[in-house]
Amino acid sequence: MEVAGYAVQVFKDKDAVARAAADVFVNLAPQPHESPRPFRVVLAGGTTPQALYALLASAEYRNRVAWDQVLFFFGDERAVPPDHPDSNYRRANDALFRPLDISGKNIYQMRADRPDLDAAAADYERVLQSAFEGARVPHFDLIFLGMGADGHTASLFPGSSALAECKRLVVPVTDAPKPPPRRLTLTIPVLNAARLVLFMVVGADKAQTLREVLKGTVSPDQYPAKYVRPGPERLAWLVDEAAGGTL
Ligand code: 6PG
Repeated sequence: MEVAGYAVQVFKDKDAVARAAADVFVNLAPQPHESPRPFRVVLAGGTTPQALYALLASAEYRNRVAWDQVLFFFGDERAVPPDHPDSNYRRANDALFRPLDISGKNIYQMRADRPDLDAAAADYERVLQSAFEGARVPHFDLIFLGMGADGHTASLFPGSSALAECKRLVVPVTDAPKPPPRRLTLTIPVLNAARLVLFMVVGADKAQTLREVLKGTVSPDQYPAKYVRPGPERLAWLVDEAAGGTL
């Protein structure tokens, strides 16, 4: 369905959301029999994508993608070591990279655990510019995003100065209300340059915020997910009934 111009698909539960996301992924990604082409994807943090990763790594999906052509990036990362349970990298590594034996050269970690977050942000920005042949703003093939109950996405939180960033591609965050407070995040211009952004939102605790983000008139500064507007046909919301059943 369309809600205020957004493509919104409501599924019965989070597993159905994950399956829909996995189907989009395998339909867009390079197939094993195809001629090689790089496919650059940004992974979302948090817990929602775990079911997606498990599906992509499953016997049902794993053989439908030329994984050696898929380059994995991160939308944000917490300032914890890469082997910490809260690390977005660790979660993807355990559920996706290791089971699929993804080569380390195809994984672009955000090292938010470095003491100098500004330097780490600048380094990741150089990684992006190199991976996109020097393009001023990278155009990712697919960006997965989650949304918090406060309307944040990636590590772009309500009222943050990072929301106004229009030059840098990656910025440090030191006051995130969702622990840990220190993080790195892609900025709005990068999210809006994607060929396709897929939000995955599940859970009744996000229902009111989802209505506000999709139909409300409150400033995006209060609900940062509203800033993600890559353009027609380039944004879709995959939500479960608990989050989107009353849209
Ligand atoms: C993070 C995420 C964050 C997440 C939302 C939803 O590192 O915290 O990038 O933006 O996507 O908070 O998290 P859940 O999927 O766990 O609800």
